[in-house]
Amino acid sequence: MCGIIGYKGGDQAVSIVLEGLKTLEYRGYDSWGIAFLDGTGLQVKKNVGKIGNFKGFKALPEANLALGHTRWATHGGVTQSNAHPHLSNNKRIAVAHNGIVENYQALRKRLQAAGYTFHSQTDTETIPLLVEDFLKKGDDFPTAVRHTCLLLEGRYSFIVLDADSGQLIGARNGSPLLAGLGKDEFFLASDIPAFLPHTNQVVFLDDQQLVLIDSALRLFDLRSGKQLPVKPQKISWTPEQAEKGKFPHFMLKEILEQRESVSRALVQDDEQLEKIAQLITRAKQTVLVGCGTAGKMCLAGTYLFAKIAGRQTHFCVGSEFPNFAPFVGPDTLVIAVSQSGETADTLEALSIAKKRGAKVVSLLNVYGSTMMRQSDYNLLINAGPEKAVASTKAATGQLAVLALLAYATAGRLAEGRKALQIASAALARTLDDAQCKRLKALAQKIKAKENLYIIGRGLHYPIALESAIKLQEVSYIHAEGFAGGELKHGPIALIEKRTPCIVLAACDETQAEVLSNAMEVKSRGAYIIGLAPQDNEVFDLHLPVPDLGIASAIAELVPVQLLAYYLAVLRGNDPDKPRNLAKSVTVK
Ligand code: AGP
Ligand code: GLU
Repeated sequence: MCGIIGYKGGDQAVSIVLEGLKTLEYRGYDSWGIAFLDGTGLQVKKNVGKIGNFKGFKALPEANLALGHTRWATHGGVTQSNAHPHLSNNKRIAVAHNGIVENYQALRKRLQAAGYTFHSQTDTETIPLLVEDFLKKGDDFPTAVRHTCLLLEGRYSFIVLDADSGQLIGARNGSPLLAGLGKDEFFLASDIPAFLPHTNQVVFLDDQQLVLIDSALRLFDLRSGKQLPVKPQKISWTPEQAEKGKFPHFMLKEILEQRESVSRALVQDDEQLEKIAQLITRAKQTVLVGCGTAGKMCLAGTYLFAKIAGRQTHFCVGSEFPNFAPFVGPDTLVIAVSQSGETADTLEALSIAKKRGAKVVSLLNVYGSTMMRQSDYNLLINAGPEKAVASTKAATGQLAVLALLAYATAGRLAEGRKALQIASAALARTLDDAQCKRLKALAQKIKAKENLYIIGRGLHYPIALESAIKLQEVSYIHAEGFAGGELKHGPIALIEKRTPCIVLAACDETQAEVLSNAMEVKSRGAYIIGLAPQDNEVFDLHLPVPDLGIASAIAELVPVQLLAYYLAVLRGNDPDKPRNLAKSVTVK
């Protein structure tokens, strides 16, 4: 995880890096730090805790070269000395690192034997020390960094600053890193919003590449050292999309953005959809792969393909994919679903699938992400930057595109798009103040509960699972989703007097049975919250959701997201940065 940023240009380097770090904080927030080169030499400032809590420098230092880091610790506790940037012993080199140096123990021993001292428990500190060692042996800075990279095992990206030459280098091998080109200024960062207020000209690095910044930006192949052409691309995201604006939290902003983002997801190139639909039709098996929320949307996708296209597809959680690898071959189509396009477990699944000759389609939000560049075909959900750790608008965008793809597979693309557009307009109308008030009142009522259950059948079962993730990650209430029919096989023992149970009761073939399941838990004392178009006598509380046919699943997600948000706020949690989590899980 971790967010990294580097800057070379005007004398505002410190404030640019600090601001950039704030936008990267969703990637990790247990500590932060920056290194900059001012008139007196290399300076470092680091702290435990969120950068958002930093009051700022008394007098902002003037520097034109800086790098920064916001951490999600993997190696070494959350302490000031483990916070990045890490320095070489001679204090010439500073490094901000994202990822894991898997062979750090061996490297550490080797460096210690050579007389180097470690000041942290991190794997990262091996990097500046190795660079220092290669410099001592006569390498110039770029060669020393390249030689260092060749010794590192594992997935990483890092930014390294050389106080002597004033150069900045970014290296990428498996974790995200991109460069931004401004007017007489250059940026390096883990994602685009970190420098979006300054430039939308982006150079995407591939794995095994190194970017060197001095008076210009140059790209190199990490292994051979050969220079590569630089191809900047213009990004359509705006800085406002990546800011909170008038909202207290990104999570609320992003939930409410679903008034427009679902319809944006439906803007897809028909030819591309038809081509992917053909791949699905021709494949012997189609496997949808994703993690967390994206995984739940994959599971929902299997129901959508069954319902809309009469086609069986399979779902596999990203981290479990290796267990099914023997059954994957050239006649398999893998559809990877991911907001970030950087999730390590999904990326590994994708790489296994490719090695076994399968075709890979990715359904993504982040343009230029690793998954995008490693897939044969891509579909983008056009949700705009999603900053809150809890995925909301990306989930509904994924669902909308999966439904569209299912319609394309059924040869009914135009009809499907129309139905989904009508549904998205209806969703927008119902996501109003009255709905927010209802959910806030419910949150107030159940905020002290310890357990919460959600049930749904058919397409609403994955929605129940996703609802549980949303509630768990931001409210910290124990929440679990079940298939309505499964309760009687065990979980019903958990129901006590007034245990809240959300029932997803859309007007479809699942309604009668899920209402019976609701009755079963009500008979055991549960407090039934019905998410349904119409009220029913089994409900203790009815939360109206529009009847949107197949898109009802999308309509059900939104109120649960709002409930999770209000519960988080009422319980004093930070909904944007829930404890123990990070937005992009780039470690396995
Ligand atoms: C979502 O609310 C979670 N924070 C998490 O489960 C997330 O969906 C998962 O880590 C996958 O991320 P991705 O979509 O970027 O691959
Ligand atoms: N391994 C480094 C550390 O623990 C970086 C962590 C990361 O990128 O997640 O500090």
